[in-house]
Amino acid sequence: MPKVTFHPPKWATTEPVRVADVPAGTNLLEAAHACDAKEGSACGGVCTCSTCHVWVKKGLASLGEQEDRELDILDRAFEVKPTSRLGCQAIVSDADVEVEITEESISAWYDEHPVERHEAEARGEWPPPKG
Ligand code: FES
Repeated sequence: MPKVTFHPPKWATTEPVRVADVPAGTNLLEAAHACDAKEGSACGGVCTCSTCHVWVKKGLASLGEQEDRELDILDRAFEVKPTSRLGCQAIVSDADVEVEITEESISAWYDEHPVERHEAEARGEWPPPKG
């Protein structure tokens, strides 16, 4: 089974790297859920929000083509790069994939998980440093 590795944003030094072994055909957002990676999903994975935005560090070509709808939604995302994908639209094939979770995405995850956000604030791990 391919391995999907989720790196936290660079400033999130206390957040662990998380890894999921998933069957081919799984999307990156489903893989994030499988290993408790903090990838946001405000629209529930129906390609209307961009909160599942990640940067692919390894395995980009194996994720298949982007549909017009994904590109349209990425137009509204922050810090879009050539390696940007929406987790809910990027399907894992047989190859391993590594991604970095964007600040946009982890921020959305904390919005969706207020208890964990409160705990992270108490530990000084949230919000991210400015600049
Ligand atoms: S979860 Fe909303 S676009 Fe992917």
